[in-house]
Amino acid sequence: MAKLAASILAADFARLEVEIRSAVEAGADWIHVDVMDGHFVPNISIGIPVIAAIRPVCEELGVLMDVHLMIQEPDRFVDQFVQAGANILTVHAEACTHLHRTLQHVRQSGAQVGVALNPATPLSVLDEVLEDVDLVLLMSVNPGFGGQVFIPGTTSKISRLRGELNAAGRACYLEVDGGVYSRNAAEVVRAGANVLVAGSAIFERGGNVRKRVRALRQQLAAAAEG
Ligand code: DX5
Ligand code: ZN
Repeated sequence: MAKLAASILAADFARLEVEIRSAVEAGADWIHVDVMDGHFVPNISIGIPVIAAIRPVCEELGVLMDVHLMIQEPDRFVDQFVQAGANILTVHAEACTHLHRTLQHVRQSGAQVGVALNPATPLSVLDEVLEDVDLVLLMSVNPGFGGQVFIPGTTSKISRLRGELNAAGRACYLEVDGGVYSRNAAEVVRAGANVLVAGSAIFERGGNVRKRVRALRQQLAAAAEG
């Protein structure tokens, strides 16, 4: 069954530990952390101290911290993010002058290696690095904000990437990030994703986190049954 990564971007930061516990206890597999620098994307979010602060909670709960770096030239901070607790570290292809070097740097740091593509970036960018990654993240919204609408063309991009991964015999994760809700989760999995990121769908104010995680997991289970 596909994995569910709960994006804390939409969580109540004043109650972050409680939010994480609720999501994981209801069935979230990973905690997805969105790091934004105000340069690569037009927004600033959270960084290394918050990752270090939630690390013991994630370790106690036995979930991976899936860190999505939306920062320019991420090489500068790879070691610090891994030391703070990132288990999977994903960099944007568009943010790296020397993508291959950056991916090797993440590999050497001991974290699992992820590469992310913006909606307008073609899959061909992956051609020379597919062997070097454990995860490909396809953005299904333009990065920088939670609560945006899933870009419909992403579905065919997911299917094409799934075909390429299968043809190459690569078992890396195919993660989809942005605008995922229970109404479209099954469709995204059927297209070929095996990790779904959900932020607003889980944490939007006023809702019940546990109920929402269960609803998403039901869709993942339905998609797994065909
Ligand atoms: C957007 C982030 C996403 C965001 C998704 O730039 O990468 O992880 O949290 O949020 P929703 O699920 O609200 O679209
Ligand atoms: Zn993200």
